[in-house]
Amino acid sequence: MVKSIKRKWQERIKRKQVDYSALPHHIGIIMDGNGRWAKKRGLPRSAGHRAGAQTLKKIVSFCDKIGIKIITVYAFSTENWKRPKNEVAELMNLLEEYLKQAEYELGSKNVVIRIIGNLEGLSSKICTQIIKTQKMTQHNTGLILNIALNYGGRDEIIHAVRQIASKVKTNKLNVQDIDEKQISKHMYTGNIKDPDIIIRPSGELRLSNFLLWQSAYTELWFSSIYWPDFSSADMLAAIYDYQKRNRRFGGI
Ligand code: IPE
Ligand code: IPE
Ligand code: MG
Repeated sequence: MVKSIKRKWQERIKRKQVDYSALPHHIGIIMDGNGRWAKKRGLPRSAGHRAGAQTLKKIVSFCDKIGIKIITVYAFSTENWKRPKNEVAELMNLLEEYLKQAEYELGSKNVVIRIIGNLEGLSSKICTQIIKTQKMTQHNTGLILNIALNYGGRDEIIHAVRQIASKVKTNKLNVQDIDEKQISKHMYTGNIKDPDIIIRPSGELRLSNFLLWQSAYTELWFSSIYWPDFSSADMLAAIYDYQKRNRRFGGI
C-alpha cells in the first residue's frame, strides 16, 4: 500500500518534469527479468512471464496516452529456443493468448500491432493468430506496437542480405544502389524511424541481439528493476533522462 502511494507520487513528480513536446518518437524495450521476478516470489518462471505480459499492456496504454508513436518490444529472441522445452511452450502459448487479448484491448484503443522476426520458425497456430491480429489492427492510426518474436538482430541482417542479393541477381537492384536506406528498408522494421531510446530492465547491460542495425545512434537506458515491476513512473524516468542527453550523431 505504502509502496503504491510512493509510486503514484513519484509518477506525479516525473510527469511534471517531462517535456511532452520533445518525446522520443520510437522506444525499444528489452522486456527482461521475468524469471528472476518470479524466483524472488517463490513462483514458477511462467508466472513471471504472465506478470510481464500484463506490464506490457499497461506500459503500451500509458505510452499511447502520453503521445509516444512507436514501441518495439523484445518478446522472444532467436536464442531463447535454448531454454527448456516446457518454458518455450509456455512462452508460445502466452504469446498467442496475449495477441488474442491485445487485438481487442489495444486494438480498440487504436493501437496497430505488428510482429517482427522470423515467422518461419513458429508453429502454424501462432502464425494464424499473428496474421489475424495484424489484420484486425492494420487500419488503426494510433501507436504502433512492434512485437519482436523469434527475432534476432543478426538473423534480421541475414534475411535482408539474402533479399537484396536475390534482387541484384534478378537485375531488380543495382549494386551501386545498395545504401543505408535500402538496407533499412529490408529490415523487419521496414521504413519506420530508428529507436530513439532502448530501455533494458533487469540489471543486464547488453543488447542481446536486439535491433543491431537500427540502434547505431540509439540512447541506451538500463535499470535494475525486473520487467514485471516496471511502472509508468519508470517509463517517465527513462524519458526524462533521455531528454537530458546530448545526441550529437557524430557532430559537435
Ligand atoms: C524475459 O525474461 C523474457 C524472455 C526472455 C522471453 P527472462 O525469462 O529472461 O527473465 P530472467 O532474465 O531469467 O530473469
Ligand atoms: C533478451 O533477454 C530477450 C528477451 C527479452 C526476449 P534474455 O534473457 O534472453 O537475454 P540474455 O540471455 O540475458 O542476454
Ligand atoms: Mg533474461
